Amino acid sequence: MRTNEPFALWTWGFKVFCTFVCVKKSPSQRHRQHKSPEWFSLPKMSQNLPKGMGKTVAGLAVAVAAVACAGAVVIVSRRIRERGQRAKCLAILDEFRNLCATPVSRLRQIVDAMVVEMHAGLATEGGSRLKMLPSFVDVLPTGDEKGLYYALDLGGTNFRVLRVQLGGKEGRVIKQEYEEVSIPHKLMAASGQELFEFIAKELAHFVNREGDGFRPHGNQKRELGFTFSFPVNQTSINSGTLVQWTKGFTCDGVPGKNVVQFLEEAMEKVGLKMRVTALVNDTVGTLAGGRYWNEDVMVAIILGTGTNACYVERADTINKWNGLLPKSGTMVINTEWGNFWSSHLPKTYADEGLDADSVNPGEQGFEKLVSGMYMGDIVRRVLLKMAQEAEIFGKPIPPKLMQPYTLSTPHMSKMHGDETRDLRNVAKVLKDAFNITNTSLTVRKIVYMICDVVCERGGRLAGAGIVGILKKIGRDGTGTGSGSWGQGKNISCKPRRTVVAMDGGLYEHYAKFREYLQAAATELLGEEVSKNVVIELSKDGSGIGAALLAASHSPSPTRNTVDSTIA
Ligand code: BGC
Repeated sequence: MRTNEPFALWTWGFKVFCTFVCVKKSPSQRHRQHKSPEWFSLPKMSQNLPKGMGKTVAGLAVAVAAVACAGAVVIVSRRIRERGQRAKCLAILDEFRNLCATPVSRLRQIVDAMVVEMHAGLATEGGSRLKMLPSFVDVLPTGDEKGLYYALDLGGTNFRVLRVQLGGKEGRVIKQEYEEVSIPHKLMAASGQELFEFIAKELAHFVNREGDGFRPHGNQKRELGFTFSFPVNQTSINSGTLVQWTKGFTCDGVPGKNVVQFLEEAMEKVGLKMRVTALVNDTVGTLAGGRYWNEDVMVAIILGTGTNACYVERADTINKWNGLLPKSGTMVINTEWGNFWSSHLPKTYADEGLDADSVNPGEQGFEKLVSGMYMGDIVRRVLLKMAQEAEIFGKPIPPKLMQPYTLSTPHMSKMHGDETRDLRNVAKVLKDAFNITNTSLTVRKIVYMICDVVCERGGRLAGAGIVGILKKIGRDGTGTGSGSWGQGKNISCKPRRTVVAMDGGLYEHYAKFREYLQAAATELLGEEVSKNVVIELSKDGSGIGAALLAASHSPSPTRNTVDSTIA
């Protein structure tokens, strides 16, 4: 309909004009032209007009024709402008796509940079942006754990409380219950006390509803595994100071302090008697949860609101470790890869803007390219540029498009997963997120393509990160790295199966992200090696993993040690 508009106006104007010409022509000529009914009406009228009126009608016709032609000119020029705007949008898209490109050559540089930074982070405190934090977990669950354990999982906009009754090798997880509580937005910026008191209250309610089938083992006190999904300098298995908040949290007074003390004081205040036996990062919880079921799990990754990775490292490679070497000879390292940076990472104006406007500028560079908290906003920023420079959504710029975080990554994933011919899910999200309506299919296709570019970059970078860790522990098929078989000795080694336990909503719910990640990992590892590397979704593994670590680090039961197959 819209594409025929100027043509229709031209035609109409032309018809009006010809009609006028017909009035002036001989009846025979007129007759020839009066075949179609539209052409018929006006001249017929003019024939019956009183003398002198003919000229008026003719003048009128000319005027109408002129207006119609002018209208057509306006529409045509609008079309030309639209075409120009579309070309500008496509140029912006092209430029953005180039800036985000992750060819395998670049991914290899990123893998190598990741390995270099891992070494540097293990060598000295502050030696790298990769913090490489020793977790004090030298004991992973074996399946022998028994008794009742609680877990508290705090790390995003929700936290979970969980209880689990463990029955040893035979009984395994006899029974478990959990509840999810959303954290009121204002608490993310409140004081540390307020945040922890809220959490302790919810935990106390949950404990009070402990029903049948849950009982402590022997004289065991209630014990808690605390999953705290932020960078923490552990000082023991059950204490550690917060390095800095991430993922939008800014609660005052916590950085630099022992977070377990905050929790214990809050629990005491609400009269909850419970001992924190393990403080773990969510990656470490996921690793423990994964290892409980599968002893090939060596690495755990979170791809959700934030992102991070941990893995089992040989303790003697951790040069900055001052304590005694653990008996197991191994230690789980929380890499905090969200803060990884390398000049090889593809960064654009959208990323720079996002970083500058964030609560932690200059920090969590990798996380800002890869994770669920940020990808939607990167898409929004590119759309905003198109709105400003190419009026992609017309004038004025839709106000909500200018507000940070109005487009979430679930929104982006919904648009990117749109398989309808007219991209109606894209249209729906544009309406829901920005109140933008009446978009053309071309505009919707452009939006879809931006989602694809951002998702492809994030997925491929995460894939490269995983290969970086595999390379560091010698499981990437190159035969190097601290955990490789026959390391330092000139013997060939049989490839081993390595399982990467994965958790997080981004990986779980965003199919295309998963596909890009897997494709990049396979490209980097090669078909053969990739057969031995399995990325396994370990849904909500971090909560139960924390409970298991509370069990395996409990002062009461027998400690089980991490197997030493890595060395
Ligand atoms: C935090 C990590 C955490 C990750 C995933 C990041 O922002 O720094 O500690 O593991 O998010 O939750």
